Amino acid sequence: MTQKTTNEMRLNARVENVAPSATLAMSARASELRREGRPVIVLSAGEPDFDTPAPISEAGAKAIRNGFTNYTANAGMPELREAIAGKLQRDNDLRYDPDQILCSNGAKQSVALAVHVLTGEGDEVLIPAPHWVSYPEMAKLAGAEPKRVPTSVESGYKLTPEALDDAITDRTRLIVLCSPSNPTGAAYSPDELEALAEVLRSHEQVYVLSDEIYEHIRFAGEHQAFAALPGMKNRTVTINGFSKAYAMTGWRLGYLAAPARITDAAAKVQSQFTSAPSSISQKAGVAALEMDHGPVREMRDAFRERRDLVVERLRAIDGVRCPEPEGAFYVFPDVSALLGRETVSGRSIENSTDLCFYLLEEHNVALVMGEAFGAPDGLRLSYAASREDLEKALDRIEEGLAALP
Ligand SMILES: Cc1ncc(COP(=O)(O)O)c(C=O)c1O
Repeated sequence: MTQKTTNEMRLNARVENVAPSATLAMSARASELRREGRPVIVLSAGEPDFDTPAPISEAGAKAIRNGFTNYTANAGMPELREAIAGKLQRDNDLRYDPDQILCSNGAKQSVALAVHVLTGEGDEVLIPAPHWVSYPEMAKLAGAEPKRVPTSVESGYKLTPEALDDAITDRTRLIVLCSPSNPTGAAYSPDELEALAEVLRSHEQVYVLSDEIYEHIRFAGEHQAFAALPGMKNRTVTINGFSKAYAMTGWRLGYLAAPARITDAAAKVQSQFTSAPSSISQKAGVAALEMDHGPVREMRDAFRERRDLVVERLRAIDGVRCPEPEGAFYVFPDVSALLGRETVSGRSIENSTDLCFYLLEEHNVALVMGEAFGAPDGLRLSYAASREDLEKALDRIEEGLAALP
């Protein structure tokens, strides 16, 4: 009997079915060009360009110095879970027992666990588009079927109650909401969320995954936790984390809060896959929640100024429609009017991917194509970059788009 070589081996069909990250293709090409000495400005990254505030880093350093370097309880150390419960009560008017909170290696892992616990074969997961790249792929990995629900520039990229009602079927098991949103920056008002909750009240089988990781990067209006709306707490998994608000992307710390049965199930999966997040990061996380939030507000204000600059410049370009984002650090202009053209160099611009590669290869700006977010009419620009780089990049984008015949 001959043995199969590694190449011929069958892999898990769900894994084969998962799309590789389109954003990685973009980053890889941008890095290649930089290595060749090209002055590429990268506006494709999803992380704050600030350092982690000093009290947080100091708490991490102290944990190392004090030898706090062992495994913690799988769901996170009690001190952190209590601090998170305190935060949810203080900021979001949500009362959770610390044991209803599960700390993970980043909010990404929290989302993955929630999707795996709640959905499986035969279930549909509703995902308003444009959406964060990972939601549909996580649903597929869980064996469920992602179902995109398109939103429009006209609605500010927000899901309407009518569209939600139309999209729900007997198979719908979960809806993913993300406010403020990656990639659009759209942030729902309390009334808009209440209108969605009202639809869900007549569909009891549908759970909600409310990804609130950009909660603190909001430029106007109050953040409304979805779980705090009447009747929603027992069917909502709230996701939050430290990466964005506290500039802690590399510390890998996030959490979910949910009804005990869901948290327990997610903790069970975590215990077999990864165990708790780093003890050092958890100590830093406690310091983040307990510190004075001045630095968080300063970062938010800096993002707001950059948002104003970027939106004004993009709106001045022919063929670009740009709703004003209310949070996060992304804009998602609609560029559909610029597609279906050919550049002077003979490059055909059929879709957002072509447009992004054109801007990268010929104008040295890295953005992310709308296809990655289930919205091929747009593209994502991250303004987590210096004002100087943003001004330079916008000059190049303006020039590149003006050169399209
Ligand atoms: C909408 C959204 N959710 C979750 C995450 C995951 O964040 P992390 O795993 O760094 O906590 C991100 C990061 O890009 C995001 O944009």
